[in-house]
Amino acid sequence: MPNKRVMLTGDRPTGKLHLGHYVGTLKNRVKLQHDFETYLIIADLHMLTTKNTREDIANTTQNAIDMVLDSIAAGIDPTISTFYLQSAIPEVCEINTLFQNLVTVPRLERLPSLKDMVRDSNKDEMPYGLLGYPVLQSADILSLRATMVPVGKDNLAHVEITREIARRFNHLYGEYFQEPDSLVGEVPTLVGTDGKAKMSKSLSNAIFLSDDSATVRKKVQSMYTDPNRVHADIPGTVEGNPVFIYHDAFNANKAEVEDLKTRYRAGKVGDGEVKEKLYHAIESALNPMRERRAEYESQPGLIENIILEGTEKTRAIVKQTVFDIRKQMGFTAVTNQLRRRVERELKKKSNDAA
Ligand code: TRP
Repeated sequence: MPNKRVMLTGDRPTGKLHLGHYVGTLKNRVKLQHDFETYLIIADLHMLTTKNTREDIANTTQNAIDMVLDSIAAGIDPTISTFYLQSAIPEVCEINTLFQNLVTVPRLERLPSLKDMVRDSNKDEMPYGLLGYPVLQSADILSLRATMVPVGKDNLAHVEITREIARRFNHLYGEYFQEPDSLVGEVPTLVGTDGKAKMSKSLSNAIFLSDDSATVRKKVQSMYTDPNRVHADIPGTVEGNPVFIYHDAFNANKAEVEDLKTRYRAGKVGDGEVKEKLYHAIESALNPMRERRAEYESQPGLIENIILEGTEKTRAIVKQTVFDIRKQMGFTAVTNQLRRRVERELKKKSNDAA
């Protein structure tokens, strides 16, 4: 059987995953994991580009565990997909350093995604590390020789940078990297429950995959609808209405959705019924997740172990890539020998100390 193609995607460990993540990327990942050898990065080094206080860092462990648990609950199968912690693979940083010479500063400065991150993190100026965000992401992707990268819309340009770096590397040192493809989810950004452009933890307009039924009900009941419709018998607008956007995204009963839309437009249904049916639709999506979550939560240390084993497996692949590209670039055998000697000595020292 030919080797499966490699897929890499993932998130910064900033917190729990919500419905926006689910329709934007998670659903895709769950489907694609059967067609690709799948890696899921916990990008804690990327998180440092905007959040690097001691407190931010102290939160990453729990955030990483929450994120992995949410992903598994949503259907990622940890027996076929590999989770790994970026910062535990120092070789990624080595590749990052090498790649920094394959892209220009003006190219990075032009990226709207980075300007947005500067603004959203209330910084006056661009940190050097943030400018290099897409380069580090390229190191992640190419270190695993991934060819498929499902991402959010704001990350598309980063995969484009990755393709350019791969081309530049191949041009300078000979063919090695295949240029990866990207893929955006069917609903690129889900509006928040408040109707704001994007569901986001920081805007407090998110329904989390880990919310319990009572919380989901409360959040759905307080959702924004058509602001001009002050009474149930006034014809309402369906287009752009958050409640109907969610119905389209989560309600598997398409006939019910069409019926609700028709009656809403005619002023023949109250917001209460529309929301009650939406609540049930979201619950149908979340219930199987709750079961899987409970199964994994009942085994202490299981998630930590999944991350640990995944990271070891991934590191071995990244080490091979470092070896290959150094060779391809013409870093000599002496360099490699020196490195191995230093590594042996360090290992001996830490063994002696133990
Ligand atoms: N940039 C991604 C985010 O927005 C996280 C990430 C880091 C990533 N490295 C990656 C995604 C490699 C896909 C592939 O959180």
